[in-house]
Amino acid sequence: MAIVERVFSGVQPTGNLHLGNYLGAIVNFVKLQETHNCIYCVVDMHAITQGADVWGGPAELARNTREVAAAFIAAGVDPKKHIVFNQSQVSGHAELTWIFNCVARVGWLSRMTQFKEKAGKDRENASVGLYDYPVLMAADILLYRATHVPVGEDQKQHLELARDIAQKFNNDFGDSIRGQGFNEGLFFPQPEPLITGPATRVMSLRDGTKKMSKSDSSDNSRINLTDDADTIAQKIRKAKTDPEPLPSEEKGLETRPEADNLVGIYAALSGRSKQQVLSEFGGGQFSSFKNALVELCVEKLSPIASEMKRLVADPGHVDAILVDGAERANAIAAETMKSTKDIVGFIRSR
Ligand code: AMP
Ligand code: TRP
Repeated sequence: MAIVERVFSGVQPTGNLHLGNYLGAIVNFVKLQETHNCIYCVVDMHAITQGADVWGGPAELARNTREVAAAFIAAGVDPKKHIVFNQSQVSGHAELTWIFNCVARVGWLSRMTQFKEKAGKDRENASVGLYDYPVLMAADILLYRATHVPVGEDQKQHLELARDIAQKFNNDFGDSIRGQGFNEGLFFPQPEPLITGPATRVMSLRDGTKKMSKSDSSDNSRINLTDDADTIAQKIRKAKTDPEPLPSEEKGLETRPEADNLVGIYAALSGRSKQQVLSEFGGGQFSSFKNALVELCVEKLSPIASEMKRLVADPGHVDAILVDGAERANAIAAETMKSTKDIVGFIRSR
């Protein structure tokens, strides 16, 4: 079982999929299909790590799970050539998490900034699952011995933890791994984050210093993938800006987070660099740039929104895709779990 190049990534079904999810992650999922075997997962087990006030309860979870799968497919992920499934259907995610729980150190998890942000002031009352979230994420990736992980900037620290877990497992069980015939004691690869493009961190439309997020109480802070053309236009026209005209050079964006964000969005959606965008719009007023941005957003997002609508209207069809994907994912996962159990010394049926 040699390590092959494989892509894995996940998105939580916690509602309000937005432009940040699309540009930071999903666009890259689509691109990577040309060069890699890809596995894209709707991480429903991650979704329940916060209270039901965040994930909405059982009916909402199922609805959101189908919606994320629909977004992958509507954006251009091919669930036949690659794998699209929901995490809870493959038991290996939970099993490998337990083993990794015994490899990862409390000190490592205590440094995770996302836990600190999500737990807030009342840390004692956060779920154990929220604390353990990055270990489950490492298990997601390494269950398929994936080598490349397309994510937004906010997941960088979690990827570093996944690399630490892979390395410590390889060290702790080095002799056993060699005993099982794996070259140089390398069982788990070091997964590489792919944080690429001009919009790896899309910011809120209301505050250029805050990340665009599913949970922001203001719907005007984000463009949802399901927004219609009028809503997109309204949100972009209302987006916070400053009174200066757009600069002609990228350097001029440094102290202007809102301008930088809108230019980054335009660049990402049009497949150009920020400098190229500024060469066209620099010196002009925001209002005309915003008009162009509205047009571009609507052009790129409307077909995705209508395809998502069509897909979620047929839940049976989406569920069949997820079941098929889970079966194929499980075939890979089962191989990893067999070897992992042998490496750890767990007796199993042959
Ligand atoms: P989540 O919604 O937290 O499950 O995130 C799904 C994917 O979208 C991850 O790869 C995130 O890094 C990415 N993502 C979330 N928010 C943003 C954002 N504001 N800008 C860029 N990428 C994002
Ligand atoms: N933690 C990721 C997020 O919130 C979602 C996720 C779960 C993930 N498991 C993953 C991303 C594995 C990449 C690989 O955005």
